[in-house]
Amino acid sequence: MKMRLELFLLIAAVSCAAGKPLSKAAGRNKLLLISFDGFRWDYDQDVDTPNLDQLVTDGVKAKYVTPPMLTMTSPSHFTTITGRWVEDHEVVHNMMYNAKTNQKVPHKQTLSRSEWWDNGVLPLWITAQNQGLKTASFYYPGGGANYSGQAVNRALVETFDHVDDNETEWRQNIDMVMSWFSEEDFHLVTLYYGEPDNVGHAKGPDTPDRKKIIQQIDRIIGYLREAINRHKLTDSLNVILTSDHGMTTVKKRPQVDEIILNKYLNLLKLASFEILDYGGFGILTPRPGKEQEVFDALSNAPNLTVYKKNELPESFRLAKSERLPPIVVVADLGFNLNSRFIVYVNKGDHGYHNGEMDMKTIFRAFGPDFKKNFLSEPFDSIHVYPLMCKLLQIEPAPHNGSLTVTENLLLHSGGSQRARLSVALLLSVLSFMFTAL
Ligand SMILES: *[C@@H]1O[C@H](CO)[C@@H](O)[C@H](O)[C@H]1NC(C)=O
Ligand SMILES: *[C@@H]1O[C@H](CO)[C@@H](O)[C@H](O)[C@H]1NC(C)=O
Ligand SMILES: *[C@@H]1O[C@H](CO)[C@@H](O)[C@H](O)[C@H]1NC(C)=O
Ligand SMILES: *[C@@H]1O[C@H](CO)[C@@H](O)[C@H](O)[C@H]1NC(C)=O
Ligand SMILES: [Zn+2]
Repeated sequence: MKMRLELFLLIAAVSCAAGKPLSKAAGRNKLLLISFDGFRWDYDQDVDTPNLDQLVTDGVKAKYVTPPMLTMTSPSHFTTITGRWVEDHEVVHNMMYNAKTNQKVPHKQTLSRSEWWDNGVLPLWITAQNQGLKTASFYYPGGGANYSGQAVNRALVETFDHVDDNETEWRQNIDMVMSWFSEEDFHLVTLYYGEPDNVGHAKGPDTPDRKKIIQQIDRIIGYLREAINRHKLTDSLNVILTSDHGMTTVKKRPQVDEIILNKYLNLLKLASFEILDYGGFGILTPRPGKEQEVFDALSNAPNLTVYKKNELPESFRLAKSERLPPIVVVADLGFNLNSRFIVYVNKGDHGYHNGEMDMKTIFRAFGPDFKKNFLSEPFDSIHVYPLMCKLLQIEPAPHNGSLTVTENLLLHSGGSQRARLSVALLLSVLSFMFTAL
């Protein structure tokens, strides 16, 4: 009897000691997630980027990151911040739409429309707040919405006419975020920049303009590191730098015959809803009874692949979506899905198959919890979410990522190592008890 009590007390003591570090709120480091929209994985390889290069030495670099299928800004950013596939979080386009009413809302106007973002999947901000953390979103897509009635503690939303490439403003935004961390004790901030996406669309990814904006981004990385030092956050702030998709050069006449879908099917007669003329990803709702006709007509069109929603490849993780209309069209790399006329002006675009190298994006990270000078194999962006939860020491919401993929970026695989240690300790105590018996 006495022995049993001792055993119980010992086990209790060991479990307490093991449990303690896992709930160490005091030792929790802060996290800054920065997204530079449309930063293709190899954009730093043909430009002089001393600050980005320094990050490789001082932290972690992944060779590249694969975004979810639907390589578009809102869907991909929301996968990063929720760890859920697009079919689950249902942010299935940059535009908000209703295929029944034919309502279409442009991207910037969706940013504070909760009904587009709030589909029962909780983003990291809300999950962290529910566990006592303070979070903020600086222009990050989805940060301006409410989720089950809850708002992000502090959210700045881009205005409709926001200028993307103002370097003075970029530095001010860094200063503001640093003061949120150092003076207001925010734990998590997501910071978004609209470049190099804007230049990639307007000028094309393989132009001097794109190289110039990458050098501007490189300068802001240098500024960020200075600001982190100035705010004495070097030992307590982890930073993840990533993006939502890459960019490819749009193929135009006379190099190719540009796609004009109305040549293959009478859109007015056969479709009741469409979003086309939007790069490489198109959606259609056939009129009643016309699904097969639409599918067959598009199957004969060159330089694209047409799918019935319920026959989308499983690897796309899109088929379960209720919002996607019955027909999905994915153009071959570089082709735009023009509907009736060529009104499309972009010189670069995305939205293509996420297996294309041009759609891959970047991942860099540094801070007290990251390894140094570590080059990681490529991984899917879905696995960034459990990594962020681990860094913030919070319990993740249900998600589709896997910490085992990204945990090796960390210096101490933290919890699991501690858990292994305490199990070992417990076992040795038990064996001591029993030999003593
Ligand atoms: C979020 O909820 C608050 C409080 O109910 C409300 O004032 C605000 O307008 C909502 N914001 C959005 C984007 O729906
Ligand atoms: C750039 O940002 C600074 C600081 O916000 C502002 O004063 C300036 O007017 C901006 N320049 C342009 C061209 O928008
Ligand atoms: C586009 O399709 C045409 C017709 O099938 C084909 O000849 C051409 O090679 C394709 N273009 C590209 C760039 O794949
Ligand atoms: C993604 O995660 C959700 C929540 O756990 C789950 O319901 C869904 O089945 C998962 N999707 C896949 C493809 O595993
Ligand atoms: Zn984007």
